Amino acid sequence: MSTLGKCFLVALIYATLAEDFKLKHQPASKPVRLFTEEELTRYDGSQEDEPIYMAVKGVVFDVTTGKEFYGKDAPYNALVGKDSTRAVAKMSLDPEDLTSDTTGLTDEQLESLDSIFEDTYKTKYPIVGYTASRILSADGSPNKDFKPEDQPHFQIRDEF
Ligand code: HEM
Repeated sequence: MSTLGKCFLVALIYATLAEDFKLKHQPASKPVRLFTEEELTRYDGSQEDEPIYMAVKGVVFDVTTGKEFYGKDAPYNALVGKDSTRAVAKMSLDPEDLTSDTTGLTDEQLESLDSIFEDTYKTKYPIVGYTASRILSADGSPNKDFKPEDQPHFQIRDEF
């Protein structure tokens, strides 16, 4: 093979490997972030140009594609812009249930919460972050129950 031919072959192999490397090492499409309660209120569907976010079990989902459920004046708008874990567990829109507090929920309600979390929210909506209270306990110490693996396709290298 001529020198030119060899050069061409080497360049071709290099380009193929480089492309392969690029594809395998693409970073996660969007980094997840931490939301305080106050920050979450901005995404309550009242502003047309903002996405709509809702947290369940401290995981913040982008529910913008469910605008017919969650948008301004939609039936479940009360659930968004906040962590509505208790409301989802109890299937309630009562203002006092619009909270992340799970105190006193029955086993049945907790099971229902888990299945809606898995089958509706994790299946239908992208995760955009976590609530600050999921990561930290009230006294500021790390919450030992925090499991970032709840993020679909979670890979430790995407987080650090
Ligand atoms: C008489 C009572 C209710 C009826 C008949 C009803 C019916 C429905 C129906 C038909 C859907 C649409 C399902 C779909 O097209 O995928 C839906 C969705 C939904 N319902 Fe209800 N619902 C009721 C009460 C409630 C209550 C009290 C809550 C309080 C948490 C609730 C929370 C939701 C949520 C969050 C969705 C949207 C889930 C998603 O994002 O896909 N529903 N409901």
